[in-house]
Amino acid sequence: MSSPPVLTTEAELKEALAPLWEAQRPLVFVPTMGDLHRGHLSLVELGARLGPVLVSIFVNPTQFGPNEDYDAYPRDLRHDLDLLEQIDGVEAVFAPDAATMYPPDDTTFVEVTGVGEPLEGEFRPGHLRGVTTIVAKLFLLVRPGVAVFGQKDAQQCLVVRRMVEDLRFPLRLVFGPTVREEDGLAMSSRNRYLDGEQRKRATVLVRALRRGREALEQGERRADVVEALMLDQLRREGAEVDYAAVRRVDDLSPLERVEGRVLLAIAARVGSARLIDNFCLQVDEGGVREAPLRDDNTFEAVASALR
Ligand code: PAF
Repeated sequence: MSSPPVLTTEAELKEALAPLWEAQRPLVFVPTMGDLHRGHLSLVELGARLGPVLVSIFVNPTQFGPNEDYDAYPRDLRHDLDLLEQIDGVEAVFAPDAATMYPPDDTTFVEVTGVGEPLEGEFRPGHLRGVTTIVAKLFLLVRPGVAVFGQKDAQQCLVVRRMVEDLRFPLRLVFGPTVREEDGLAMSSRNRYLDGEQRKRATVLVRALRRGREALEQGERRADVVEALMLDQLRREGAEVDYAAVRRVDDLSPLERVEGRVLLAIAARVGSARLIDNFCLQVDEGGVREAPLRDDNTFEAVASALR
C-alpha cells in the first residue's frame, strides 16, 4: 500500500475532503499529535469501520505548559505515515504547521468549565483549554460526522464531549478502549521518555489502579480509602504523584461512597515522564465491572446509531 496523502493547508484539506463530505458514509476524524503507536492505530482502525478516515498530526503548542515537553515531543512524520499506510481506509493525513492553526493575530480560546476543572485542569492549568481550542478548530475545518478519541485520556474525552454538546457540533464521538503493553502499561507517546529501569517501574500506575479495583471488589466503598490504597502503592514504588482519585464519571466530582459509574484516575511522574492512566468501573449491587466512559460513545453505540 502507499502512504496516505499529506495535506498541510486549509485549501488542500477542503479540496480533498469535498467528495467525502458528500459521501454516504460519515467522514471519520482521528486527531493525534503524531508519534503514533498501537493505541492510536486501534483508534484509526475503529474509525475505518465507520467510514473514510482523516488523521490529523499536529503537536498543539497551546496544550503544553511553559515547562512541559512541547520542544521535546517526538515528531517523525515518516514513521507515522509508514504505520498509517498499513491501515485500510485512511484517506489522508492533515499535518498543518503552527501558523496555519494559530495565525499570529489569533486570540480565541475554547474553554470547558466544570468537568475541565479538576484533575488535569488543576495540575496542568491551560492544558485542557488548549485541547478544546485545537479540537474545535479542527472540527470546524474537517467537519467530520464521527470523531474518535482514546479513553486513556478520559478527562479529555469528557471535556470534548461537553464541548460538542454545548457548541452543538453536528458529530458523534467514539471513545476507544485503552491499549496496553503486555505488562499492563497503557500505551502513550510519553513512554518513550522512560529508560529501562523507569519503564519497569512505570507499571506501578496500572498496579495501583488494580489495587483500587480489588478493594472495591472486596466490598470497600469508601472513596478516600480506595484513593489512599492507590496512593500508597504509587508512593511505595517511588512515583511522584499528582493525583490518585476516585470520581463520578459524569462530572468528575468527588464522592464519599463509591457507587455507579466511576473513574479511578492517576497522574504520576516516573523519572521525567508524567504518565496518566485510568479504569472506568461500574460499581453496584451486582459487583464491580469494567465499563465504557459513556454508553453512547462506544463504537457499538455509534455504529448502531449510524445504521
Ligand atoms: O490526545 C491528543 O493526542 C491531543 O490532545 C489531541 C486530541 C490530538 C489534541 O491536540
